[in-house]
Amino acid sequence: MDQNKLKQAAATAALDFVRPDSIVGVGTGSTVAFFIDGLAQRKDTLRGAVSSSEDSTQKLQAAGIEVFDLNTVSELDLYVDGADEITPQQHMIKGGGGALTREKIIAAVASQFVCIVDQSKQVDTLGTFPLPVEVIPMARAYVARELEKLGGKPVWREGVVTDNGNIILDVHNLMIKNPVALETQLNQITGVVTNGLFACRGADIVVVGTAQGPQIHK
Ligand code: A5P
Repeated sequence: MDQNKLKQAAATAALDFVRPDSIVGVGTGSTVAFFIDGLAQRKDTLRGAVSSSEDSTQKLQAAGIEVFDLNTVSELDLYVDGADEITPQQHMIKGGGGALTREKIIAAVASQFVCIVDQSKQVDTLGTFPLPVEVIPMARAYVARELEKLGGKPVWREGVVTDNGNIILDVHNLMIKNPVALETQLNQITGVVTNGLFACRGADIVVVGTAQGPQIHK
């Protein structure tokens, strides 16, 4: 079955978690684009959204969904986003689309994180997908050297500037045995804004698009 159909099936199944008259946290990426399409169909029952990227904001607004500033929203019961890799423990690598920092902020605020993926994203150990790290531009070379000391091979995502005006280093060659520890350690490097490990705050529910239909893991 085509991967886009599996992404769409996961995204459609996640619509069941959206409460009427609520504000929903919306992630970034191709799987989330299907979720936004679904939200657009029921926009009259929705108060609006908070968005994790300029790209998703543009898609939400084009669909006629109001986008709120997160600072004006004191409680958020749901955040829906994709992932680049996810383990059975519901730890993730995210940031393939470069939106990791805003994604992590919304995930921190939300009571429930529903991750939507196709089955190709399921792994036992994180790290085959290069780990994105968002870095203040002047710290790029320093942070790269520190990442090399940890055994990683950082590659600058040249030409990419995040929505926050920073750069991304994609770290190859990491087999991540303890994602919670590594997430914490990487955030201690001066100049790192955040990293794409979502383990300290993982997903609460995972909706996986499979050839047999969407599967829900709690
Ligand atoms: C965006 O920065 C990412 O965290 C995405 O959630 C992740 O890359 C998954 O994207 P796709 O849904 O496009 O595979």
